[in-house]
Amino acid sequence: MRVPSYSSSAVDTIPTVAPAAPAPEPRFHQRHVETTDTVRKELLDGLAKEQAHISPKFLYDELGSSLFTAITLLDEYYPTRCENEIFAKHSADIVAHAGPVHTLIDLGAGDCAKAERLLAHVRPAQYVPIDISVDYLKAAVKRIADHYPDLEISALGMDFFNDLSLPAEVHAERRAFFYPGSSIGNLPPEQAADLLANIRRQCADGALIIGVDLVKAREILEPAYDDAVGVTAAFNLNMLRHVNKILGSDFNLAQWQHLACFNEARSRMEMHLRARVATTVRWPGGERSFKEGERIHTEDSYKYRPHAFKAMLSRAGFGQIRYWTDEREWFAVFCARA
Ligand code: AVI
Repeated sequence: MRVPSYSSSAVDTIPTVAPAAPAPEPRFHQRHVETTDTVRKELLDGLAKEQAHISPKFLYDELGSSLFTAITLLDEYYPTRCENEIFAKHSADIVAHAGPVHTLIDLGAGDCAKAERLLAHVRPAQYVPIDISVDYLKAAVKRIADHYPDLEISALGMDFFNDLSLPAEVHAERRAFFYPGSSIGNLPPEQAADLLANIRRQCADGALIIGVDLVKAREILEPAYDDAVGVTAAFNLNMLRHVNKILGSDFNLAQWQHLACFNEARSRMEMHLRARVATTVRWPGGERSFKEGERIHTEDSYKYRPHAFKAMLSRAGFGQIRYWTDEREWFAVFCARA
């Protein structure tokens, strides 16, 4: 096992790495690519339901991903800032609680920026960023490989919600899974529990570091998902543009309105698109009529109470569970040991 040498443990400093024994070139593997037929079928099934729905994964085409980045800069969207605050204050404690890490596995890595801030603390020998497409990871992997020439990097393109089995090149010992951003909240609790159990199975002697958004007042939650600038509305509406491209459908975005509401009973923020007028949407081979006011359900974002998320981690087989919050206790970063 090679352990990289770092000159500094400061989060914001790029460490100087001893020039010896560079790691092999970063490797890239693309595993799961959904066929167009599967994607179309999933969309058509959702649109045919009495309560129409479209999976939130369709929020993220190129424009949708840029809009999400813009959301994270909004005054109302607190999760990113709260999570940054927690890592800025507590990274050293969180990483100490995780114990020694050989391989850092970054779920939904994207631009890898969050993991990059942890690397100087964690000091893994191997870094494994995972996202749905390796193409998203290429620029970030190059940046990290330039900064950490003796860090072994294997970038994986795969749908880890469906299948988290990892290739043999991902070393099995002392894995730390890193899942920031509270994306776990975009899964229904049963699926979130399954994902946690899958992570636990892949993690014999390591840890999980995960960001979780906490229950709070409706007055804070609803503006975070319906901001004054209208970026979240654009993010939600853009989904119809994305669906039009995939299905060849004729959703007219002007006929739809973004809605965001806190469903307290289910402890989740919900996003919907509401038909402003009665309309029929057509695509090659089919159509669906919507009454005025009818909704398409596009996303849920579950908010947890700390004890409930702790219980979920225990049920998944994790122990030694600790969490850190921001000052207002709006967001939590949990670290649990396998
Ligand atoms: C990616 N995920 C954690 C975001 C959330 O807060 O549930 C997605 C989002 N939807 C609307 N705004 C942000």
